[in-house]
Amino acid sequence: SNRIMLGPLVAAIDQGTSSTRFLVFNAKTAELLSHHQVEIKQSFPKEGWVEEDPKEILQSVYECMDRTCEKLTQLNIDISNIKAIGVTNQRETTLVWDKETGEPLYNAIVWLDLRTQSTVERLISKTPGRNKNHLKHKTGLPISTYFSAVKLRWLLDNVDEVAEAVVTHRAMFGTVDSWLIWCLTGGKSGGVHCTDVTNASRTMLFNIHTLDWDPELCKYFDIPMEILPKVRSSSEIYGLMKICSSLTSGSLTGIPISGCLGDQSAALVGQMCFQDGQAKNTYGTGCFLLRNTGAKPVMSDHGLLTTVAYKLGRDKPACYALEGSVAIAGAVVRWLKDNLGIIQTSTELEKLAASVGTSYGCYFVPAFSGLYAPYWEPSARGIICGLTQFTNRSHLAFAALEAVCFQTREILDAMNQDSGIPLTQLQVDGGMTSNRLLMQLQADILCIPVVKPSMPETTALGAAMAAGAAEGVSVWSLRPEDLSEVTSEKFEPQINPEESEFRYARWKKAVQRAMNWET
Ligand code: G3P
Repeated sequence: SNRIMLGPLVAAIDQGTSSTRFLVFNAKTAELLSHHQVEIKQSFPKEGWVEEDPKEILQSVYECMDRTCEKLTQLNIDISNIKAIGVTNQRETTLVWDKETGEPLYNAIVWLDLRTQSTVERLISKTPGRNKNHLKHKTGLPISTYFSAVKLRWLLDNVDEVAEAVVTHRAMFGTVDSWLIWCLTGGKSGGVHCTDVTNASRTMLFNIHTLDWDPELCKYFDIPMEILPKVRSSSEIYGLMKICSSLTSGSLTGIPISGCLGDQSAALVGQMCFQDGQAKNTYGTGCFLLRNTGAKPVMSDHGLLTTVAYKLGRDKPACYALEGSVAIAGAVVRWLKDNLGIIQTSTELEKLAASVGTSYGCYFVPAFSGLYAPYWEPSARGIICGLTQFTNRSHLAFAALEAVCFQTREILDAMNQDSGIPLTQLQVDGGMTSNRLLMQLQADILCIPVVKPSMPETTALGAAMAAGAAEGVSVWSLRPEDLSEVTSEKFEPQINPEESEFRYARWKKAVQRAMNWET
C-alpha cells in the first residue's frame, strides 16, 4: 500500500474533566494528523459531590487510541512512526486503587467536588488567625476543597476499602496522570507509579521549592507517604506502553510514555509561553489563566496560586507560574443543557445568545463549586439576578457567556496587579474558544485583544512536545528557533471602555451577593 512518509510522530492522551482525547502530531511540523474524542460521564451522587469512574476514564483512553489508529491507517499513515506518547490531564482529581487487584477502591473525586467543605472550614479555623493561606509558603495554594489532599483525607476517613488497603500496604494514590500511566505501563503486573512536578504541585502535599513530597504537609493532613507516587520531571521516559486494548491500538505496545503535565501546564507549553511574563487562558470545564514567572516562584497578594509550570527534563530547571483558576466556564454550558434544558447542544448557546446580543441587565454568577480565584470562598453559591418580565432564555444564555468573560477579567486584573506589568493581549485556547461571540465578548470585557491559535488543541500539543523532546526520544526540538510559526486569529475590543467598566461593576455587585450564601 501507499504509506505516506512523514517522519516521526508523537501522540498525546488528553484526559480532561468533560472528555478524553487521543491525538497524533507530526513532530517536525507540529501538524495535527488525527484524533478522536469521547465524552466522560460525571455523577453527582449528592449535592456538591462530583465523581467519575476510573475504569470509564481508562476505557475512554483505549477507545480514543483505537479510533485514532484506525483513522491513521485509513490515511495510509504508519502507526509505527509514533515514537512517544505524552499524558496530560484534569488536575487535582483524586484516585486510590489496589495495587494487587488493579481495581479502583472508589470513584475518582473530581476537582470540582465540594464534599470537603466542612473539613476545609475546620482546618482553616484551626490555623493562627483563621488564615486560609497558612500552607501557602510551601505549596503556593490556599487551603481549599479544590486540591487533592483533602479529598484523599476524605477517602481515608470514609471508605473502608481505602483504609484497609492502606493498612495492608496495597493502596496507591494518584491523580489521573498516575492512574493512566500505571495502568498503561502494566498495571498490577509491574505498572510504574509516578506523577510529574506539575500534577504533584496541585495536591497540597508537595513542596514547590524542594520539588518533593513534604513530610510536614503529609503529617498535617495525616497522609501515609508510602501511598504517594514517585515525582518525576514533565519530560522523561517513565515507562513503555504495555497494556493496550485488543484492537488497533495494540500496535502502540512498546512506545515510551515520556511526557506528563497537568492540562493547564501543557497548554502553557503548547502555546509556547516559555518566557517570563508570557501567559495563556484556557476555556475548558473551568477556565485557567497561567502566567510564566520563570525560575522563581512568585507569591500572589491577590488570590492567585503559585504553581509549577513545567520541568522539561530531569536535569532541567523547574519553571513556575502564577495561576488564576475559575471553577465554572464550559460547565455552565453543560448545566444550561443538562439541568435547565434550554439548549440541546453547546453550539446552540452561541446562536441563542447572539440573537439578543445583550443580557438586558441579567447577571449570572455560576458559583456552583464555591468561588475560586481571587476569592477562594467555598460557601459561595450560584445566583442569577437582574431578572425582569422581559428576560428570556436567550438573555440567560448571553449572561452565561458573559460570566465566563467577567471571571476571566477578575483573574486578569489580579494577575496584572501581582506582576505590575499589565498584559497587552491575551492568548487563549480550549474548547469554548470556537465560540466566536464569546471571544468577541471577552475582548470587549477585557478591553485588550484576544488572540486564538488556529490549531486549538494546544493542551495536547504541549504534552506531545514534552514527550517528543524527552531524553532518549529526541524527535521534537524545543528550541524557540525550531518551533513552527503559529497562525492565529485576533479579536479586537469593539465597545467603549466606559460601557465595559459599567457592566463589570454590576458583575462585581452580583458576586458580592453570591458570597457567604450560607452564613
Ligand atoms: O484544575 C482543573 C483543570 O486541570 C481542569 O481542566 O480543562 O478539564 O477544565 P479542564
